[in-house]
Amino acid sequence: MKWRSWMVFCTLAGVCAAQPRAQGQPAQQGPPKRVCPLSDNQLKKAQDIFAKIADVLRHPRCINCHGAEDPFDKEKASETHSGGFYKVAVDEGGDVDEEKTNAQCTKDCHAGFPGWSMAPNAVFFVGLDNTGLCKLMKFKNVVAHFRNDEGGTQFIAEAFTGRRGLAGQGLDMVGDENPAPVPNTTQPQLTQLVSDWIGAMGGKFQGDERCGCEPVHFAVGVLYHANINMGSVLQQLTEMGPIDVPITFHDDGTYEGTGQLPLAGAGRDRGCASQSEGSLNIRISGKAVEDETNSSMHIELTNTGPATGTTGVQCPMYSGVFPLQGGNKRLVTFDAQGRAGEKAEAPFPLGPLVDAHVQVQIIDLSSPAAPAKP
Ligand code: HEC
Repeated sequence: MKWRSWMVFCTLAGVCAAQPRAQGQPAQQGPPKRVCPLSDNQLKKAQDIFAKIADVLRHPRCINCHGAEDPFDKEKASETHSGGFYKVAVDEGGDVDEEKTNAQCTKDCHAGFPGWSMAPNAVFFVGLDNTGLCKLMKFKNVVAHFRNDEGGTQFIAEAFTGRRGLAGQGLDMVGDENPAPVPNTTQPQLTQLVSDWIGAMGGKFQGDERCGCEPVHFAVGVLYHANINMGSVLQQLTEMGPIDVPITFHDDGTYEGTGQLPLAGAGRDRGCASQSEGSLNIRISGKAVEDETNSSMHIELTNTGPATGTTGVQCPMYSGVFPLQGGNKRLVTFDAQGRAGEKAEAPFPLGPLVDAHVQVQIIDLSSPAAPAKP
Protein backbone atom coordinates (compact mmCIF):
# COMPACT_ATOMS: atom_id res chain seq x y z
CA MET A 1 0.00 0.00 0.00
CA LYS A 2 2.63 2.48 -1.05
CA TRP A 3 0.17 5.29 -1.93
CA ARG A 4 -0.61 5.76 1.74
CA SER A 5 2.67 7.55 2.19
CA TRP A 6 1.60 10.50 0.09
CA MET A 7 -1.98 10.35 1.29
CA VAL A 8 -0.63 11.88 4.46
CA PHE A 9 0.30 14.95 2.53
CA CYS A 10 -3.02 15.00 0.82
CA THR A 11 -4.72 15.21 4.15
CA LEU A 12 -3.33 18.64 4.60
CA ALA A 13 -3.86 19.78 1.09
CA GLY A 14 -4.68 18.57 -2.26
CA VAL A 15 -4.27 20.34 -6.39
CA CYS A 16 -4.17 22.47 -8.09
CA ALA A 17 -7.00 23.74 -10.05
CA ALA A 18 -6.83 26.75 -7.80
CA GLN A 19 -6.82 30.11 -9.51
CA PRO A 20 -4.18 32.60 -8.60
CA ARG A 21 -5.58 35.68 -6.94
CA ALA A 22 -6.99 38.10 -9.45
CA GLN A 23 -4.19 40.45 -10.32
CA GLY A 24 -4.55 44.17 -10.30
CA GLN A 25 -4.99 45.32 -6.76
CA PRO A 26 -6.08 48.94 -6.83
CA ALA A 27 -3.08 51.15 -7.43
CA GLN A 28 -2.14 52.59 -4.07
CA GLN A 29 -2.52 56.30 -3.95
CA GLY A 30 -1.25 58.38 -1.09
CA PRO A 31 -0.08 56.74 2.10
CA PRO A 32 -0.60 52.97 2.33
CA LYS A 33 -3.93 51.80 3.68
CA ARG A 34 -3.59 50.40 7.17
CA VAL A 35 -5.59 47.84 9.07
CA CYS A 36 -8.17 49.48 11.33
CA PRO A 37 -8.23 47.50 14.57
CA LEU A 38 -11.54 48.89 15.88
CA SER A 39 -14.59 46.84 16.79
CA ASP A 40 -17.99 47.67 15.30
CA ASN A 41 -18.99 48.76 18.78
CA GLN A 42 -16.09 51.22 19.02
CA LEU A 43 -16.80 52.58 15.55
CA LYS A 44 -20.46 53.12 16.36
CA LYS A 45 -19.68 54.91 19.63
CA ALA A 46 -17.06 57.09 17.94
CA GLN A 47 -19.42 58.02 15.12
CA ASP A 48 -22.24 58.89 17.52
CA ILE A 49 -20.00 61.22 19.52
CA PHE A 50 -18.48 62.71 16.40
CA ALA A 51 -21.94 63.60 15.08
CA LYS A 52 -22.23 66.03 18.00
CA ILE A 53 -18.81 67.52 17.29
CA ALA A 54 -19.70 67.89 13.60
CA ASP A 55 -22.84 69.82 14.53
CA VAL A 56 -20.63 72.41 16.19
CA LEU A 57 -18.10 72.48 13.36
CA ARG A 58 -20.94 73.21 10.95
CA HIS A 59 -22.36 75.94 13.17
CA PRO A 60 -22.06 79.38 11.54
CA ARG A 61 -19.82 80.55 14.38
CA CYS A 62 -17.24 78.03 13.22
CA ILE A 63 -17.89 77.30 9.58
CA ASN A 64 -18.10 80.94 8.51
CA CYS A 65 -14.33 81.18 8.99
CA HIS A 66 -13.85 77.64 7.70
CA GLY A 67 -15.00 78.29 4.17
CA ALA A 68 -18.69 79.24 4.34
CA GLU A 69 -17.89 82.92 4.05
CA ASP A 70 -15.16 83.71 1.60
CA PRO A 71 -14.10 87.34 1.39
CA PHE A 72 -11.36 86.37 -1.06
CA ASP A 73 -13.59 84.67 -3.60
CA LYS A 74 -15.09 87.35 -5.80
CA GLU A 75 -18.36 85.60 -6.55
CA LYS A 76 -18.96 84.14 -3.10
CA ALA A 77 -17.85 87.23 -1.21
CA SER A 78 -20.80 89.36 -2.25
CA GLU A 79 -23.26 86.67 -1.12
CA THR A 80 -21.56 85.46 2.03
CA HIS A 81 -19.36 88.16 3.52
CA SER A 82 -21.01 91.31 4.87
CA GLY A 83 -17.78 93.19 4.29
CA GLY A 84 -17.69 92.18 0.63
CA PHE A 85 -14.74 91.14 -1.50
CA TYR A 86 -11.04 91.48 -0.68
CA LYS A 87 -8.08 90.64 -2.84
CA VAL A 88 -5.51 88.15 -1.65
CA ALA A 89 -2.22 90.01 -1.36
CA VAL A 90 0.74 88.45 -3.16
CA ASP A 91 4.43 89.09 -2.77
CA GLU A 92 6.94 89.75 -5.55
CA GLY A 93 7.36 86.05 -6.22
CA GLY A 94 3.61 85.67 -6.70
CA ASP A 95 3.09 83.76 -3.43
CA VAL A 96 0.26 84.64 -1.06
CA ASP A 97 1.38 87.19 1.51
CA GLU A 98 -0.69 86.14 4.49
CA GLU A 99 0.29 89.01 6.68
CA LYS A 100 -0.74 91.62 4.14
CA THR A 101 -3.87 89.69 3.25
CA ASN A 102 -4.99 89.48 6.87
CA ALA A 103 -4.02 93.06 7.59
CA GLN A 104 -6.95 94.06 5.41
CA CYS A 105 -9.28 92.22 7.79
CA THR A 106 -7.90 93.58 11.04
CA LYS A 107 -7.39 97.13 9.81
CA ASP A 108 -10.97 98.30 10.26
CA CYS A 109 -13.63 95.62 10.61
CA HIS A 110 -12.11 92.75 12.63
CA ALA A 111 -9.85 95.05 14.61
CA GLY A 112 -11.26 93.75 17.91
CA PHE A 113 -9.35 90.47 17.64
CA PRO A 114 -5.64 90.60 16.92
CA GLY A 115 -4.68 87.80 14.55
CA TRP A 116 -8.14 87.43 13.03
CA SER A 117 -7.76 85.27 9.96
CA MET A 118 -9.78 82.99 7.72
CA ALA A 119 -8.98 79.32 8.20
CA PRO A 120 -6.67 77.98 5.48
CA ASN A 121 -8.37 76.12 2.61
CA ALA A 122 -6.87 72.85 3.82
CA VAL A 123 -9.05 73.04 6.94
CA PHE A 124 -12.26 74.28 5.33
CA PHE A 125 -15.25 72.50 6.87
CA VAL A 126 -17.65 73.61 4.17
CA GLY A 127 -18.96 70.84 1.93
CA LEU A 128 -17.68 68.05 4.20
CA ASP A 129 -19.97 65.36 5.58
CA ASN A 130 -19.32 63.77 8.98
CA THR A 131 -16.83 61.34 7.47
CA GLY A 132 -14.87 64.15 5.84
CA LEU A 133 -14.89 66.26 8.99
CA CYS A 134 -13.87 63.25 11.06
CA LYS A 135 -10.84 62.62 8.84
CA LEU A 136 -9.88 66.28 9.15
CA MET A 137 -10.04 66.07 12.95
CA LYS A 138 -7.66 63.12 13.17
CA PHE A 139 -4.60 65.18 13.94
CA LYS A 140 -2.13 64.89 16.74
CA ASN A 141 -2.99 67.75 19.10
CA VAL A 142 -6.68 67.85 18.42
CA VAL A 143 -7.75 67.93 22.08
CA ALA A 144 -5.36 70.79 22.83
CA HIS A 145 -6.61 72.55 19.74
CA PHE A 146 -10.16 72.52 20.99
CA ARG A 147 -9.11 73.35 24.54
CA ASN A 148 -7.19 76.52 23.73
CA ASP A 149 -6.07 76.54 20.09
CA GLU A 150 -2.90 74.79 21.25
CA GLY A 151 -1.94 77.97 23.05
CA GLY A 152 -2.03 80.03 19.83
CA THR A 153 -4.51 82.63 18.65
CA GLN A 154 -7.78 81.89 20.46
CA PHE A 155 -10.02 81.47 17.41
CA ILE A 156 -12.32 78.96 19.06
CA ALA A 157 -12.86 81.02 22.20
CA GLU A 158 -13.62 84.06 20.04
CA ALA A 159 -15.99 81.97 17.90
CA PHE A 160 -17.92 80.94 21.02
CA THR A 161 -18.44 84.59 21.96
CA GLY A 162 -19.95 85.30 18.55
CA ARG A 163 -18.25 88.70 18.40
CA ARG A 164 -16.28 87.90 15.25
CA GLY A 165 -13.56 90.25 16.38
CA LEU A 166 -15.63 93.13 15.14
CA ALA A 167 -14.82 96.67 16.15
CA GLY A 168 -15.27 100.17 14.80
CA GLN A 169 -16.37 100.17 11.20
CA GLY A 170 -17.14 96.46 11.30
CA LEU A 171 -19.50 96.86 14.24
CA ASP A 172 -21.18 99.85 12.59
CA MET A 173 -21.75 97.76 9.50
CA VAL A 174 -23.38 94.67 10.99
CA GLY A 175 -24.51 95.92 14.38
CA ASP A 176 -25.45 93.23 16.91
CA GLU A 177 -26.45 90.64 14.36
CA ASN A 178 -24.10 87.97 15.62
CA PRO A 179 -24.77 84.39 14.60
CA ALA A 180 -26.92 82.64 17.22
CA PRO A 181 -24.91 80.88 19.96
CA VAL A 182 -23.85 77.28 19.61
CA PRO A 183 -26.74 75.50 21.34
CA ASN A 184 -26.06 73.69 24.63
CA THR A 185 -22.30 73.57 24.16
CA THR A 186 -19.45 75.49 25.70
CA GLN A 187 -15.82 75.26 24.65
CA PRO A 188 -14.93 72.99 27.61
CA GLN A 189 -17.89 70.74 26.77
CA LEU A 190 -16.81 70.58 23.13
CA THR A 191 -13.26 69.74 24.23
CA GLN A 192 -14.66 66.97 26.44
CA LEU A 193 -16.59 65.58 23.46
CA VAL A 194 -13.37 65.43 21.43
CA SER A 195 -11.70 63.64 24.30
CA ASP A 196 -14.61 61.19 24.56
CA TRP A 197 -14.50 60.64 20.80
CA ILE A 198 -10.86 59.53 21.02
CA GLY A 199 -11.70 57.48 24.10
CA ALA A 200 -14.33 55.61 22.11
CA MET A 201 -11.61 54.61 19.65
CA GLY A 202 -9.41 53.08 22.34
CA GLY A 203 -7.82 56.32 23.49
CA LYS A 204 -5.78 56.98 20.36
CA PHE A 205 -6.08 57.40 16.62
CA GLN A 206 -5.56 54.11 14.86
CA GLY A 207 -5.18 52.84 11.33
CA ASP A 208 -5.30 55.22 8.40
CA GLU A 209 -7.46 58.32 8.07
CA ARG A 210 -10.60 56.26 7.49
CA CYS A 211 -10.34 54.34 10.75
CA GLY A 212 -13.02 55.48 13.19
CA CYS A 213 -14.59 57.74 10.55
CA GLU A 214 -16.17 55.19 8.25
CA PRO A 215 -16.64 51.42 8.29
CA VAL A 216 -13.53 49.68 6.97
CA HIS A 217 -13.22 45.93 6.72
CA PHE A 218 -10.31 43.63 6.17
CA ALA A 219 -9.76 40.02 5.28
CA VAL A 220 -6.78 37.72 5.40
CA GLY A 221 -6.26 35.95 2.09
CA VAL A 222 -4.90 32.42 2.41
CA LEU A 223 -3.15 30.24 -0.13
CA TYR A 224 -1.52 26.91 0.61
CA HIS A 225 0.80 25.15 -1.77
CA ALA A 226 2.69 21.89 -1.32
CA ASN A 227 4.89 20.06 -3.73
CA ILE A 228 6.73 16.75 -3.51
CA ASN A 229 8.95 15.96 -6.41
CA MET A 230 10.93 12.75 -6.34
CA GLY A 231 11.16 12.41 -10.10
CA SER A 232 9.58 9.25 -11.47
CA VAL A 233 9.12 7.74 -8.02
CA LEU A 234 6.65 10.14 -6.47
CA GLN A 235 5.10 13.42 -7.44
CA GLN A 236 2.41 15.19 -5.56
CA LEU A 237 1.09 18.69 -5.89
CA THR A 238 -1.52 20.06 -3.54
CA GLU A 239 -3.10 23.44 -3.28
CA MET A 240 -5.69 25.06 -1.03
CA GLY A 241 -7.26 28.40 -1.65
CA PRO A 242 -6.87 31.18 -2.30
CA ILE A 243 -9.73 32.45 -0.19
CA ASP A 244 -10.30 35.67 1.69
CA VAL A 245 -11.21 35.19 5.34
CA PRO A 246 -13.00 38.33 6.60
CA ILE A 247 -11.83 39.33 10.06
CA THR A 248 -13.67 41.08 12.89
CA PHE A 249 -11.93 43.11 15.56
CA HIS A 250 -12.64 43.21 19.29
CA ASP A 251 -12.21 46.28 21.50
CA ASP A 252 -8.64 45.27 22.44
CA GLY A 253 -7.33 44.96 18.87
CA THR A 254 -7.58 41.18 18.76
CA TYR A 255 -9.45 39.74 15.83
CA GLU A 256 -10.68 36.54 14.31
CA GLY A 257 -12.38 35.04 11.31
CA THR A 258 -13.17 31.64 9.87
CA GLY A 259 -13.26 30.24 6.39
CA GLN A 260 -13.17 27.09 4.35
CA LEU A 261 -10.21 26.36 2.13
CA PRO A 262 -11.03 24.37 -0.97
CA LEU A 263 -8.50 21.61 -1.47
CA ALA A 264 -7.30 20.06 -4.69
CA GLY A 265 -4.47 17.63 -5.26
CA ALA A 266 -2.96 15.46 -7.93
CA GLY A 267 -0.16 12.95 -7.70
CA ARG A 268 1.68 10.12 -9.25
CA ASP A 269 3.24 7.36 -7.19
CA ARG A 270 5.10 4.94 -9.43
CA GLY A 271 2.36 3.42 -11.54
CA CYS A 272 -0.56 4.98 -9.65
CA ALA A 273 -2.23 8.28 -10.29
CA SER A 274 -4.36 10.11 -7.76
CA GLN A 275 -6.62 13.13 -7.52
CA SER A 276 -7.87 14.63 -4.29
CA GLU A 277 -10.53 17.16 -3.57
CA GLY A 278 -12.04 18.41 -0.40
CA SER A 279 -11.87 21.24 2.06
CA LEU A 280 -10.31 22.36 5.28
CA ASN A 281 -11.97 24.63 7.84
CA ILE A 282 -9.60 27.26 9.14
CA ARG A 283 -9.54 29.98 11.74
CA ILE A 284 -7.53 33.17 11.52
CA SER A 285 -6.85 35.16 14.65
CA GLY A 286 -4.33 37.56 16.09
CA LYS A 287 -3.84 41.11 17.17
CA ALA A 288 -3.10 44.32 15.36
CA VAL A 289 -1.60 47.51 16.75
CA GLU A 290 -1.90 50.44 14.38
CA ASP A 291 -1.21 53.74 16.05
CA GLU A 292 1.09 56.65 15.54
CA THR A 293 4.23 54.79 16.52
CA ASN A 294 3.40 51.12 16.04
CA SER A 295 2.30 49.20 13.02
CA SER A 296 2.16 45.48 13.57
CA MET A 297 -0.21 42.66 12.84
CA HIS A 298 0.26 39.19 14.19
CA ILE A 299 -1.58 36.50 12.23
CA GLU A 300 -2.27 32.95 13.44
CA LEU A 301 -3.74 30.40 11.12
CA THR A 302 -5.01 27.06 12.32
CA ASN A 303 -7.33 24.35 11.07
CA THR A 304 -10.43 23.78 13.16
CA GLY A 305 -10.74 20.15 12.11
CA PRO A 306 -9.23 17.60 9.77
CA ALA A 307 -9.48 18.06 6.03
CA THR A 308 -12.43 16.27 4.53
CA GLY A 309 -12.92 15.03 0.98
CA THR A 310 -11.92 12.19 -1.25
CA THR A 311 -8.92 10.83 -3.05
CA GLY A 312 -9.35 8.84 -6.22
CA VAL A 313 -6.55 6.39 -6.99
CA GLN A 314 -5.90 4.61 -10.27
CA CYS A 315 -3.24 1.88 -10.29
CA PRO A 316 -2.53 -0.67 -13.00
CA MET A 317 -4.15 -3.43 -10.98
CA TYR A 318 -6.95 -1.60 -9.22
CA SER A 319 -8.56 1.74 -8.66
CA GLY A 320 -10.78 3.23 -6.00
CA VAL A 321 -12.02 6.29 -4.18
CA PHE A 322 -11.00 6.79 -0.57
CA PRO A 323 -11.88 9.34 2.07
CA LEU A 324 -9.19 11.93 2.63
CA GLN A 325 -7.15 11.08 5.68
CA GLY A 326 -7.64 13.65 8.44
CA GLY A 327 -4.52 15.47 9.36
CA ASN A 328 -3.39 17.01 12.60
CA LYS A 329 -4.11 20.38 13.98
CA ARG A 330 -1.50 22.81 12.77
CA LEU A 331 -0.67 26.36 13.69
CA VAL A 332 1.19 28.71 11.39
CA THR A 333 2.03 32.23 12.47
CA PHE A 334 3.00 35.35 10.59
CA ASP A 335 4.14 38.78 11.60
CA ALA A 336 3.16 41.59 9.30
CA GLN A 337 2.92 45.34 9.47
CA GLY A 338 -0.80 45.58 8.85
CA ARG A 339 -0.75 47.27 5.46
CA ALA A 340 -3.32 46.53 2.79
CA GLY A 341 -1.85 44.30 0.10
CA GLU A 342 1.00 43.11 2.30
CA LYS A 343 1.96 39.45 1.92
CA ALA A 344 3.68 37.08 4.28
CA GLU A 345 4.74 33.51 3.74
CA ALA A 346 5.68 30.71 6.08
CA PRO A 347 6.93 27.20 5.48
CA PHE A 348 4.50 24.47 6.48
CA PRO A 349 6.47 21.77 8.29
CA LEU A 350 5.64 18.48 6.62
CA GLY A 351 9.04 16.82 6.57
CA PRO A 352 12.15 17.11 4.47
CA LEU A 353 10.68 15.89 1.19
CA VAL A 354 7.80 18.30 1.05
CA ASP A 355 8.09 21.85 -0.11
CA ALA A 356 5.00 23.33 1.52
CA HIS A 357 4.16 26.98 2.10
CA VAL A 358 1.28 29.01 3.35
CA GLN A 359 0.89 32.52 2.07
CA VAL A 360 -1.32 35.13 3.64
CA GLN A 361 -2.21 38.54 2.32
CA ILE A 362 -3.90 41.46 4.04
CA ILE A 363 -6.89 42.46 1.98
CA ASP A 364 -8.71 45.77 2.28
CA LEU A 365 -12.32 44.84 1.58
CA SER A 366 -13.41 48.48 1.71
CA SER A 367 -11.26 49.78 -1.13
CA PRO A 368 -13.12 50.17 -4.36
CA ALA A 369 -12.09 47.58 -6.93
CA ALA A 370 -9.43 48.56 -9.40
CA PRO A 371 -10.84 50.14 -12.52
CA ALA A 372 -10.84 47.61 -15.35
CA LYS A 373 -7.91 48.14 -17.66
CA PRO A 374 -8.88 48.59 -21.31
C1 HEC B 1 -11.56 83.78 12.87
C2 HEC B 1 -11.79 82.67 12.05
C3 HEC B 1 -12.02 81.33 12.72
C4 HEC B 1 -13.11 80.95 13.44
C5 HEC B 1 -14.32 81.76 13.79
C6 HEC B 1 -12.92 79.57 13.77
N1 HEC B 1 -11.71 79.15 13.31
FE1 HEC B 1 -10.94 77.30 13.46
N2 HEC B 1 -9.27 77.89 12.52
C7 HEC B 1 -9.02 79.16 12.07
C8 HEC B 1 -7.66 79.26 11.57
C9 HEC B 1 -6.98 80.48 11.02
C10 HEC B 1 -7.12 77.97 11.69
C11 HEC B 1 -5.70 77.51 11.31
C12 HEC B 1 -4.68 78.05 12.25
C13 HEC B 1 -4.79 77.38 13.57
O1 HEC B 1 -4.78 76.15 13.60
O2 HEC B 1 -4.91 78.07 14.58
C14 HEC B 1 -8.15 77.15 12.30
C15 HEC B 1 -8.00 75.80 12.60
C16 HEC B 1 -8.94 75.06 13.23
C17 HEC B 1 -8.77 73.67 13.56
C18 HEC B 1 -7.57 72.80 13.23
C19 HEC B 1 -7.85 72.00 12.00
C20 HEC B 1 -6.70 71.12 11.62
O3 HEC B 1 -6.98 70.06 11.03
O4 HEC B 1 -5.56 71.48 11.91
C21 HEC B 1 -9.89 73.29 14.25
C22 HEC B 1 -10.17 71.93 14.82
C23 HEC B 1 -10.76 74.42 14.33
N3 HEC B 1 -10.17 75.47 13.69
C24 HEC B 1 -11.98 74.41 14.97
C25 HEC B 1 -12.81 75.50 15.04
C26 HEC B 1 -14.06 75.49 15.75
C27 HEC B 1 -14.63 74.31 16.50
C28 HEC B 1 -14.60 76.72 15.61
C29 HEC B 1 -15.90 77.24 16.17
C30 HEC B 1 -16.10 77.05 17.58
C31 HEC B 1 -13.64 77.50 14.83
N4 HEC B 1 -12.59 76.73 14.51
C32 HEC B 1 -13.83 78.82 14.48
C33 HEC B 1 -9.88 80.21 12.08
C34 HEC B 1 -11.13 80.20 12.66
